[in-house]
Amino acid sequence: MVFNGHTHVVGVIGHPITHTVSPSMHHAAYDFLGLNYAFVPFDVAPNRLAEAVAGIRALSLVGVNVTVPYKESVIPYLDDLDPVARQIGAVNVICNVDGRLIGYNTDGDGFVASAKLCCDVDFSGKKVVIIGAGGAAKGIAFAMLAAGISELTILNRTRDRAEALVAQLTSGHVRAISLSEDLSGAYEALRRAHIVVQTTPVGMRSDESPLVDFSWVIPGQVCVDIIYRPKETLFLKEAEEAGARILNGEGMLAGQGQLAFRLFTGQDVPFEIMYNSVISN
Ligand code: ATR
Repeated sequence: MVFNGHTHVVGVIGHPITHTVSPSMHHAAYDFLGLNYAFVPFDVAPNRLAEAVAGIRALSLVGVNVTVPYKESVIPYLDDLDPVARQIGAVNVICNVDGRLIGYNTDGDGFVASAKLCCDVDFSGKKVVIIGAGGAAKGIAFAMLAAGISELTILNRTRDRAEALVAQLTSGHVRAISLSEDLSGAYEALRRAHIVVQTTPVGMRSDESPLVDFSWVIPGQVCVDIIYRPKETLFLKEAEEAGARILNGEGMLAGQGQLAFRLFTGQDVPFEIMYNSVISN
């Protein structure tokens, strides 16, 4: 593709950014629909975030995806947030609407949609455990509650953060358990769960897992790790060996990307176009 004066430019900002697969995923969609768009990764140093955001306006970018570590810290530089991003307190998409920068969060909805498409997961009435209580856990928790889960337990290394998330979710069916203080309560919740979602970065760069014992796994239980590289974390390997149906983070990546693509272009692309690009990378 040769870019020209009509090319619409979208970016992704993060630090580091070398391993992003978003450009190839979005370009697969541009090629499929024959759109004159370019998707460019930008490595933004922490002390230059404000300038980078000003650059979105100055260069008339269509918008950018936002990734680690800027999903929360970028918010003060935006003009407005959509209600979902405001509720979660984190953004993964910024759209430039005539110089006004609007923040969105498609992570949670992308997670729910992709779990349905990749693994036929039905959230309605299900008991769910989330491991971790950070920004990713928050978006996924809001989206799963909106999708109709009946019970949610947040397991986290530290109790304070899990309790803060439970307070923010304002649902009567949510509780917090500390992995360091109440391990037997944690395993009991895991045993009762239909769906378990691992959201911590543990497993990303090392062969480690936030849990060591997998005797709680019930055959057929759905275990998800939102990490997509490595494709199979130790958490997923152990859960699969114990009989779980497993799903890695490639689906969520494609799901949030599909929703971001709609915000950037106003057009719909089939999930498979983005998903196939992610899994083949
Ligand atoms: P993100 O925004 O990507 O979710 P985050 O906000 O830094 O990242 O949250 C990271 C989550 O992973 C937290 O729940 C954190 O637990 P604490 O609240 O106790 O810090 C969890 N986490 C990070 N490293 C961990 C580790 N080595 N073992 C267990 N949990 C870990």
